[in-house]
Amino acid sequence: MPDRVLCQSGDLLERGLAQRFTLQWGGRERSAFVLRYDGRVYAYINECAHIPIEMDFNPGDLFDLSRSWLVCSTHGAYYAPNTGLCLGGPCPGRKLISLPVREIADQVCLIEDKTQHE
Ligand code: FES
Repeated sequence: MPDRVLCQSGDLLERGLAQRFTLQWGGRERSAFVLRYDGRVYAYINECAHIPIEMDFNPGDLFDLSRSWLVCSTHGAYYAPNTGLCLGGPCPGRKLISLPVREIADQVCLIEDKTQHE
């Protein structure tokens, strides 16, 4: 299965707004997001590890004011952008569900082959 293009590379500014998308995961449609951090792209299911609800306050707005962490807008759990590991708030040690993405020829792509077995 070919990769699924999620957006253009230029759509993801360093530590800027994430691009939201949906995918089938775990037998149902889920919200997800992709963002750029330290030059690389990362994608996660848009569900907090505390309570499985969407994390962004406004669509794609996930970085804290320091642009260092991804923050859940409900109770303030904060996550490392490159691993999805919760480092503080109500669920430290839990992780966001990461999704396989890569950047090719100025496009940000979901590697669909690796999402079909979930
Ligand atoms: S739902 Fe995200 S911190 Fe509680």
